[in-house]
Amino acid sequence: MEVTIKDIAKQANVSIATVSRIINNKDEGFSLETKDRVKKIIKEMDYHPNSIARGLVTKKTSVIGLILPDITNPFFPEVVRGVEDTANAHGYNIILCNTDDDEKKEKTYFKILRDKYVDGVIYTSAAALKDKNIKILTDGEIPFVLMDRYIENQTIPYIHTDSERGMYEIVNYLISNGHKKISYISGPVGDVVAEQRKRGYKKALKESGIEYKELLVRHGNYKVNSGISCMESLMESGENFSAVVCANDLMAVGALEVLKVKGIRVPEDISITGYDDVFLSQITTPKLTTISQPKYDLGKISAEILIKLINGEDIDSREIKLEPHLVIRGSVAKRSEVHEDSSNR
Ligand code: RIB
Repeated sequence: MEVTIKDIAKQANVSIATVSRIINNKDEGFSLETKDRVKKIIKEMDYHPNSIARGLVTKKTSVIGLILPDITNPFFPEVVRGVEDTANAHGYNIILCNTDDDEKKEKTYFKILRDKYVDGVIYTSAAALKDKNIKILTDGEIPFVLMDRYIENQTIPYIHTDSERGMYEIVNYLISNGHKKISYISGPVGDVVAEQRKRGYKKALKESGIEYKELLVRHGNYKVNSGISCMESLMESGENFSAVVCANDLMAVGALEVLKVKGIRVPEDISITGYDDVFLSQITTPKLTTISQPKYDLGKISAEILIKLINGEDIDSREIKLEPHLVIRGSVAKRSEVHEDSSNR
């Protein structure tokens, strides 16, 4: 009996769509192991694709899956807009999957998108995840791109903003205003973006001869409440500081609230900075000095790269790094000698 593409897929333990894409050399994003395994089985089973069947099998759904960690964070809606506009312009619709930073939800969505035969997936991982869902990604079921929170040492294309440079720039801005004791509210331990930003903080301190003090660092989860708890912890630590740097705007909003309740003036007593330049940073009192990320373009370019992969086109580079930029508003003042020791009473 003639060997079919279904026999190959079953033997290789991959989907029919995967076998088809590998046969048609549309195999960007598939792991080398998957490609070699499929090609070996095709040879062993002496399979010869039926050109008519091949056309049927590579039918597209014209749908792209978009997996995000926290749609309640105003950083992401602008990113989604960039993905949706670009996808629609190329004849695709999107399915938005919000994982609430939860690994189990992430895995469920991966399976749903695979079973729905979406043509590709744009994936921003949950910040809290330590062991990323590597297997589902690299099994090559469908083309992927990683957006913003990428996974290191993977072959999958990724699009992100240079977080180390962004944080380095805003900490240097504080140092240029005379601040030497600068506390830091980080994103989650193990999150690639949070680690990059902390590297930028440390690099700026080191280049100015300022000692890095772990006692001035707290780890949040990018949400407002973690900004509140981290700021309260810093205030209770007894450590002196004249500025606090936050790894995103939502945690800065939480930190601002704590300072206000404690009657500490911003920026007169303590300067504070955020990261993302979401709309909230423009309506806080004072307005937040922050780092702007090109949110719309992050989504737009991620969708463009994925659609190239779906169409079997080559991409110039596996990494696309976009540039952040400093937005100076009213939450930073020159350090005043007077307030140095009373700034966090
Ligand atoms: O505010 C949420 C953070 O998570 C952003 O800075 C963005 O980079 C994402 O990683």
